[in-house]
Amino acid sequence: METPIVKLSDEELNTVYEPSEDSYLLMDALEADLESLHAMKPRICLEIGSGSGIVITALAMALKRHNVQFIAIDINPDACRATRRTSLINSVDINVLQMNLLDCIRIKYTFDIILFNPPYVVTEYNEVIDDRLVFKTWAGGKNGRQVMEQVFAIIPKILSDAGLFYLVVIKENDPEYIFSTFKKLNMSGEIVHERKIRGEHLYILRFCKVKETKS
Ligand SMILES: C[S@@+](CC[C@H](N)C(=O)[O-])C[C@H]1O[C@@H](n2cnc3c(N)ncnc32)[C@H](O)[C@@H]1O
Repeated sequence: METPIVKLSDEELNTVYEPSEDSYLLMDALEADLESLHAMKPRICLEIGSGSGIVITALAMALKRHNVQFIAIDINPDACRATRRTSLINSVDINVLQMNLLDCIRIKYTFDIILFNPPYVVTEYNEVIDDRLVFKTWAGGKNGRQVMEQVFAIIPKILSDAGLFYLVVIKENDPEYIFSTFKKLNMSGEIVHERKIRGEHLYILRFCKVKETKS
């Protein structure tokens, strides 16, 4: 998978998440799955919290031979502009929406691939609701799950039957707890990539819908 060119100004770096180990680990996980992602013949892919746009742009570049629509969401208008620019610099087309999580998404079973590298750091709740945009890049509240958990119940409603959801977490978020939450939503998950860096244990979790068996 080619790494996209990303250009962030010094000013943007005050609020937009600079591609980091977690971004690259998610891209590694997608690269490892690329054959099956091609085989899936995806039609629409979504990234929640696209930041600089590096991950969804990498995916768009890798899936260029298919006719795929890409949508990126970020709460931060600076990140939305950066994502759009990253897509254009790398000659792919990504539709960018400034939005809180999935607030305005009402499309049933549409997305074939959904990506989310959320703010996952364990913090006080007041940091989650702090208006400063830079806090949105990392503040995850209690267990670091207070932002990501808001989308969990919506994922099975917007994911296509054969779709995949990729989520970046750290050990403190308790991946086993997240698996059990998704199990109740009829989705199964597994760790597909992990890396320990500077006191942080990162995981990429991949979820799919559990197929109903006819009795
Ligand atoms: C850890 S960064 C990941 C950025 C990028 N996807 C990457 O991997 O480099 C988290 C991103 O989520 C966005 N974000 C945080 N809270 C959000 C919310 N409520 N709705 C939409 N985006 C949000 C942040 O602005 C930030 O761009």
